[in-house]
Amino acid sequence: MHDPFAPKQLEFITNATKKWNLAHGSVRSGKTVCTVFAFMHAVYNCPDSKIYIVGHTFDTAYRNVVRMLMESEEMALFRPFCSWSGKKLTFKDKIITVLGAKDEGAVGNFQGLTMSLVYCDEMTLYPDSIIDMIDSRLSMPHSKGYAAMNPSHPKHKVKQWIDRAELGDNNYYALHFTLEDTPYVNQEYKNRIRDSSSGIFHKRNYLGLWCLAEGAIFDFFDPKIYVVPRAPAAAEYFIAGIDYGASNPFCCLVIGVNTGKNAQTGKQMWVEAEYYWDHKKKERQKTNTEMADDVELFLEPYGVKQIYIDPSAASFKSDLRKRGMHTVDANNEVEEGIYTLTSEMKRGFVKIVSGCTNLIREIESYVWDSKASEKGYDEPLKRDDHAIDALRYIVHTHKVNVYDPYKEKPAVDKYMRYNINTFDTSKDPLRGQRGRSF
Ligand SMILES: Nc1ncnc2c1ncn2[C@@H]1O[C@H](COP(=O)(O)OP(=O)(O)OP(=O)(O)O)[C@@H](O)[C@H]1O
Ligand SMILES: [Mg+2]
Repeated sequence: MHDPFAPKQLEFITNATKKWNLAHGSVRSGKTVCTVFAFMHAVYNCPDSKIYIVGHTFDTAYRNVVRMLMESEEMALFRPFCSWSGKKLTFKDKIITVLGAKDEGAVGNFQGLTMSLVYCDEMTLYPDSIIDMIDSRLSMPHSKGYAAMNPSHPKHKVKQWIDRAELGDNNYYALHFTLEDTPYVNQEYKNRIRDSSSGIFHKRNYLGLWCLAEGAIFDFFDPKIYVVPRAPAAAEYFIAGIDYGASNPFCCLVIGVNTGKNAQTGKQMWVEAEYYWDHKKKERQKTNTEMADDVELFLEPYGVKQIYIDPSAASFKSDLRKRGMHTVDANNEVEEGIYTLTSEMKRGFVKIVSGCTNLIREIESYVWDSKASEKGYDEPLKRDDHAIDALRYIVHTHKVNVYDPYKEKPAVDKYMRYNINTFDTSKDPLRGQRGRSF
């Protein structure tokens, strides 16, 4: 039996009595558990039902908060008094409304509300306008806000609240969490987060720091490690990614995948070949039909399963479909996609065959946009990023069905499934088929 809370969580729960109570820091460091606990304690004492749980979207609020309340051991104290129906959470005589900050029409949902209590999950992902709106809704003397978040850029609105808390402003309480503060996550996971992230992702997710997105994005990229002379394994299948450009460069990458199932290794992916057409550097601009001809010819030897494509390239996508190619709209979330790519590369899952010179050049020169950073946005410099986008589309969207020898069902002897001491022989489906009877 472990302690119900880590010391850092207890510190938060004890001191979270201000207008805004903010838990910020590394991923999986126990922020949500203690913030929700403090919030639910306040719900218990709240005189009315003007109580809200807000998530990045309604679905994430349901997944991260409502389900945690209804299912987890950490919330066992509240669980028997909670029920969920009609998109509302009931706790004893209180009704808690769940809202998504980024859902369509979100502003309308918040307008005109009076909030006595609000819990905001992953608050740094909300638009600034919604953060302002929520802040202005906490208008009653007993109103309180609780929020958990991973750090973002240092000019973020919530970071200014944290700074005020540190300067002694009585309206704000903030506590910084690191992965080392939680005993509930195993060391192996902590090491994986430490080793699989780099640059801002390492600083924000592992160290929990509010830092600017600046400098090289793939600062860990060493061609000696990530560039290989030939495919590192036999491909079980191939997939492709396309970043479409009508006047900007057009890029198509083919990736070989080995799930490890046959070789009993971990998964491996590698960029096998690239097709890159820079309309400005080449003698002329190609039409969509010519480009689709090129892609068809380029992909022919590989028999690719799917082509992950920029969702905005609608007409090119239909050109490919008419030729019998399977296209899939790629997940185009830039920051999340870069994070996935970084972590997959650092974990050794993605290699690049040396012939893909444009991709290698782009990776080496891919940097954060310093002007956007100054304005408070995390964006890569939109310059030489066409092959990288094609790679990001594939790696961020395609889920490899990984072979894990430890997760495979062990070859259990069917006769060994039952505990002989407690076994009711009359219900034995194999009765009479066994070598001996009970
Ligand atoms: N007091 C606790 N007792 C048992 N398990 C806990 C406790 N606190 C946290 N955990 C476990 O640790 C994990 C991370 O906790 P939590 O979700 O609160 O972290 P977080 O900092 O909000 O993470 P993220 O940054 O991913 O949102 C969860 O799986 C949770 O079950
Ligand atoms: Mg959380």
